[in-house]
Amino acid sequence: MKWPSAITIKEVGPRDGLQNEKVFISTEDKIEWINQLSTSGLKHIEITSFVNPKWIPALSDAAAVSTGITRQPGVTYTALVPNQRGLERALAADIDEAAVFMSASETHNLKNINKSIRETFPVLKDIVKKTLAAGKSSRGYVSTVFGCPYEGKVDIDAVVRISETLFEMGIDELSLGDTIGIANPKQVQEVLEVLLKRFPVGKLAMHFHDTRGTALANILVSLEMGITIFDSSVGGLGGCPYAPGASGNVATDDLLYMFDGMDIHTGVDQEKILTASQYIQKKIGKPLPSKSFQAASSQLGCRLENMEKGR
Ligand code: HMG
Ligand code: MG
Repeated sequence: MKWPSAITIKEVGPRDGLQNEKVFISTEDKIEWINQLSTSGLKHIEITSFVNPKWIPALSDAAAVSTGITRQPGVTYTALVPNQRGLERALAADIDEAAVFMSASETHNLKNINKSIRETFPVLKDIVKKTLAAGKSSRGYVSTVFGCPYEGKVDIDAVVRISETLFEMGIDELSLGDTIGIANPKQVQEVLEVLLKRFPVGKLAMHFHDTRGTALANILVSLEMGITIFDSSVGGLGGCPYAPGASGNVATDDLLYMFDGMDIHTGVDQEKILTASQYIQKKIGKPLPSKSFQAASSQLGCRLENMEKGR
């Protein structure tokens, strides 16, 4: 099997992970957590979102978080931006990259951003243009690529059309969202076969939620097809509030366990991610879903117990 020697992990926990949480994580705690992530070797962190705070109260402190963190050189700090108002707020907070987003299915798009797909295009076009003019980079997301919670099957032609339109707008990279964690490896292969005929492999990222436990299998297939950029969330936190039943992103911890074991370079320190997962788990007050995180935490507990006995 031919695998790449290195891949890039894009951490989305502070945005995708927290947006659906009932517990409000204080601004101070978010800042401390992002600062931990910033020194873990991650080079891309999606730190918050400048959406309407009435829709996503968990991230209503987007500006304070963006201006409060200690920025590390070489790390790109991204924020999700839905419209002109969001972009103004994001630029005032000096984010490095604005991520625009829309769905491949009409109903999810409407529920998520209150607009039809057709109405969304000019809004995003304007954001991308202004983002690039401000000297920032621009990332695009297409959601519900592999299935929609409202409409079920999603037409690949819709995914192609939206992806093409986003690239024409000037986005630097497109992340393909399995919003409700419904994809399987065969489907991932079929979808990528179509998209890779049209778009450069280095411009595509995969964004798998792990709702049904298929994310790592889907990532392995994507990897074999040449994809080297993967979005993930510390501890497997997260979910889309407008996708019923959607659970967290694939866990950064699980990705690191897999890639480190396969000798595929990520540049990210597993121990530091373990610490960041433990930190946010404590703040959220419930166990994080990542299997390798839970296994590593138990092993750490056993080691500490042994050390205490030995004293
Ligand atoms: P809307 O309510 O239709 O907006 O929201 P509006 O333009 O009608 O404005 C209504 C009011 O909101 C106005 O205030 C605006 O100023 C204000 P008023 O005049 O009534 O006092 N407003 C804002 N305030 C602050 N910041 C803003 C903003 N926009 C409007 N940016 C909107 C439209 C798109 C903003 C709304 O639907 C929204 O915020 N949606 C975001 C939903 C969301 O965050 N979903 C989760 C993220 S997407 C995701 O998770 C998927 C992804 O992970 C990939 C995957 O998994 O597939 C990316
Ligand atoms: Mg997501």
